[in-house]
Amino acid sequence: MLNWDEFHEDDTVTAPEPSQAPKQALNQTKPTPAPKTEAPAAANAEVKNEVKEAAGSYQVAEADRIARAQQSLDELDIAAGLEELEMGAGRVEVDDKRMINARADVNQLVPFKYDWAWQKYLDGSANHWMPQEVNMNADIALWKSQDGLTEDERLIVMRSLGYFSTADSLVANNLVLAVYKNITNPECRQYLLRQAFEEAIHTHAYQYCVESLSMDEGEVFNMYREVDSVARKSAWSLKHTQSLGRPNFQTGTPETDQEFLRNLIGFYVVTEGIFFYCGFSQILSMGRRNKMTGVAEQFQYILRDESMHLNFGIDMINQIKIENPHLWTPEFQDEVTQMILEGTQLEIEYARDTMPRGVLGMNAAIMEEYLHFICNRRLAQIGLKEQFPGASNPFPWMSEIIDLRKEKNFFETRVTEYQVGGALSWD
Ligand SMILES: [Fe+2]
Ligand SMILES: [Fe+2]
Repeated sequence: MLNWDEFHEDDTVTAPEPSQAPKQALNQTKPTPAPKTEAPAAANAEVKNEVKEAAGSYQVAEADRIARAQQSLDELDIAAGLEELEMGAGRVEVDDKRMINARADVNQLVPFKYDWAWQKYLDGSANHWMPQEVNMNADIALWKSQDGLTEDERLIVMRSLGYFSTADSLVANNLVLAVYKNITNPECRQYLLRQAFEEAIHTHAYQYCVESLSMDEGEVFNMYREVDSVARKSAWSLKHTQSLGRPNFQTGTPETDQEFLRNLIGFYVVTEGIFFYCGFSQILSMGRRNKMTGVAEQFQYILRDESMHLNFGIDMINQIKIENPHLWTPEFQDEVTQMILEGTQLEIEYARDTMPRGVLGMNAAIMEEYLHFICNRRLAQIGLKEQFPGASNPFPWMSEIIDLRKEKNFFETRVTEYQVGGALSWD
C-alpha cells in the first residue's frame, strides 16, 4: 500500500537540493562527442550524460516554480476558461434557464427549473448496480455444454452481445462529445453525467458476459463492422454523431438547433428506443425459459436503465420543442418521422437476420409487429402521428418488465439491497 510518509522520505533522499541545482548544472562539462565507430558502451555513456545535463536544466526551472505559480494566479482574473466567471452578475433565476442556448450560468445547479431531470438523476442513482454482482455460473455451464442451446439460440446470444457491446460505446461517446456541451441546463447535465456512467456499466456488463463465457472477444467486438445487420444499425447511429462532430459546431441558429434535435432523436428515440428492443426481448425471452439467466439478468438491469434514458431523452426533446416552437416545422416533423421509420426498418432487418426460423416463442414476423407497436409509441411520445395504425403488442410481458422496474420484488436480490460503497474498504 502506498504510504505518503515513505513517499516524501524517498523524495528528499533522491532529489538534489533546489538551491544547489543551478551550480551543479553550470559545473557540468559536456563530454567530447564520441566517434561514430566507438563501442555502444561509450555511446550509452554519452546519452546518460546528456540526460543528466537535461535534468540539471530542469532543476533550474524548478527553483523558479513558486514564482511562476504566483504569476499565473496574478493573471487568473483575466484568463478566459471554458466559461468565464461574471463577477457581480445577477443571481440565476429559474426563468433564465433553458435547455439550449441558455445565457444563465451553467455552473449553478439550483434553483431547479426541470424537476423531472433532477428526479431522474435521483432515480438512476438509487438503481445503481454492477455486472460482477450477477452470478454467471449457470450460463457458463449451459454455454459450454454441447446440447444446452440450439444453434438459433446461440446465434441470438452472439448477435446480442455483438451489437450491444459497441452500441453502448457509441451512445456514451455521443453523450459526452456531442450532447453534453449543447445542453445548457445544469440539472439535465447532472443526469447526463449519471447516464454516461451507466453506459460505461453497460459496456462493462457485455464485456463481463463475453469474458465469463470465454467467447472470441475479437469476433464479438468487431461484429459492428463485420456483420451487415449489426453494421447498418451502428452506421445509422454514427451518422448522427458525425453531424455534430465539426469542431466549430454550435447551436444558436434554427439550422444548428434542428441538427442538434436530429442527434437527440437519432440517439434517444431510435438507437436507445428502437435498436435495443429486438435484442432485449430475445434475451429476456430466453431468461423466461430459464436459459442464460445470468446474461438475461444483466439485460434486465440494462433495460431498466435504458427505459429511463429513453424517457429522459423524450422529456428533453419535448422541452426543447416547447421552448423553441419555430424548430418543429411540418417539414422537420416529416423528416423526424422518416428517421424513426428508417430505424424501425433497420431493426426489422436485424430481427430477420437473427431469427431465420422461429425461436423462443418468437419469429421475425411477430417481432415486426412488436417493432411497429414500438415505432407508434416513439412517434406518439414526441407528438407525431402513428404510422402503423392498430399495431398491437405481442409481448405484453416486456411492458410488465419495464413497468415493474420500481417494484421491490422485480429484482429479487442484489439491487434493492445494494449498499453504495459496500465493496470498498477504507482501512
Ligand atoms: Fe446503455
Ligand atoms: Fe442508454
